[in-house]
Amino acid sequence: MIVLKTARELSVMKEACRISAGALQVIGQAIEPGVTTGELDGIAEKYILSQGAKPNFKNYQGYPATACISINNEVIHGIPSNKRVIKSGDIVSVDLGAVFNGYHGDNAATFAVGDVSAEAKRLISATEESLYEGIKAARAGGRIGDISNAIQRYVEARGFSVVRDFVGHGIGTQLHESPEVPNFGTPGKGIRLLPGMTIAIEPMINFGRPEVKILPDGWTVLTKDGSLSAHFEHTVAITPDGPQIMTVV
Ligand code: MF3
Ligand code: CO
Repeated sequence: MIVLKTARELSVMKEACRISAGALQVIGQAIEPGVTTGELDGIAEKYILSQGAKPNFKNYQGYPATACISINNEVIHGIPSNKRVIKSGDIVSVDLGAVFNGYHGDNAATFAVGDVSAEAKRLISATEESLYEGIKAARAGGRIGDISNAIQRYVEARGFSVVRDFVGHGIGTQLHESPEVPNFGTPGKGIRLLPGMTIAIEPMINFGRPEVKILPDGWTVLTKDGSLSAHFEHTVAITPDGPQIMTVV
């Protein structure tokens, strides 16, 4: 079932999204060579709690942390650890969210640390741009496939590939609601977009092939071919005036 939100509900949800975006910003500012992913997770958790919200990934299906922090060939769901040290040249994908007054926010970004390769920079900007292409297509009266195709077309034109095994999602009083929002698809296909829908659009883009595998920890998703991967995500509301990005500080 797709839950449409009233303007009043959207304004409460906007707070959860603002806190989610603030936590992502705080982590982004703390990323530097030598810091551990466990330390970064602690910084985000502290920030979210200081805003009167709660981290919404923690304990979700048993997930043990506030953020997912995925480095280089890791696509998503990397578990923060005090043993995992970030170094110059890494690309670091951070995904996190907060729940506030019953509503969820969810966002992600990939950060370049120190001197990263030109390839990595191209992958990161194409992934970020593809998110904005997807957001532009999130218009009432259109369909989910319009979003999916806008993302896919943008990244494939640049020689990168779209992860198929994980997708974006509706979001609201639950972290994951209907509908699914794939990052690949056909314009004009899929359910119709309506005002009041709130969705998390989140392209996961590989430098090489689209296939992924999961580590024995049961969470960490890696590219099968070992190539780099990037991830950007915003929570977006579909309104009569067009798409509204909710996850902004
Ligand atoms: N951030 C993921 C998403 O965008 C959800 C993470 S699942 C968790 O949908 F268990 F790690 F929280
Ligand atoms: Co999400």
